[in-house]
Amino acid sequence: MQNNTFSRLIVGQKIVVLKRVDSTNNYIKRELAKSTPFSEGTVIMAEDQYSGRGQAQNKWLSPPGLNLTFSTVLYPSFLSPESQFELNIAISLAINDVLSEIIGSDIKIKWPNDIYYRNSKVGGVLIENSIQGRSLKSSIIGIGLNVNQTEFDPQLVHVTSLKNILGRDVELKELLTALCKSIENRYLKITSDHSAHRAEYLRCLYRYNEKHKFVNKEEFFGIITGVDEVGRIVIDSEGEQKVFSFKEVSFVI
Ligand code: BTN
Repeated sequence: MQNNTFSRLIVGQKIVVLKRVDSTNNYIKRELAKSTPFSEGTVIMAEDQYSGRGQAQNKWLSPPGLNLTFSTVLYPSFLSPESQFELNIAISLAINDVLSEIIGSDIKIKWPNDIYYRNSKVGGVLIENSIQGRSLKSSIIGIGLNVNQTEFDPQLVHVTSLKNILGRDVELKELLTALCKSIENRYLKITSDHSAHRAEYLRCLYRYNEKHKFVNKEEFFGIITGVDEVGRIVIDSEGEQKVFSFKEVSFVI
């Protein structure tokens, strides 16, 4: 294990690089379970994450050394369980800020918090919250970004990387530092910029306000018109406002 101390940021002030770990989210979970103090914003980055987890029990596969696979922990006690989606918004905006600076406006957030370039996934976020009473006790934020990987399992369609988009390598540590800064910036504004964050999230949302095909039990055409307070997507289908939780609806791409 190698320890690197960067500037005085809370997020990324301490970055621990692990040579090999099952999952950086699991690593933090195990540390928190030991009840030893774990400083807010400490980043655990894996060079080789061999059993990465995605949302909804999916796997997150990433070849060693090419991409960013990291997690951090936040203690957002100011958030109630009902408002936990504010964290998803802040984190996706933070990633979107950094990647759109590098790549431009073709970077979008695919609801709830995938990061897309045009019609292909570049990254994903796995947020695991623990609740104590009426507030969030801890939030493990896991981020996987395809950075310098150029070849993907042919069965995985609609996936790309920064290198495939830009045609050049991207320095992992520099990108990580920019992401940490951005996460801190958005995190600190969750309460004060609540409405602005929501408006920006919608502005950056993949396929927002456009007519596209979705699948629930069957295929239907609809227009994403919003995301409600608890993070469910609202899709207008021929005048009917349909509201879906994660996994109840998928996009036809
Ligand atoms: C998704 O798109 O479904 C979310 C993917 C999240 C992957 C990251 S990689 C770092 C952290 N550790 C994990 O096991 N998962 C997250």
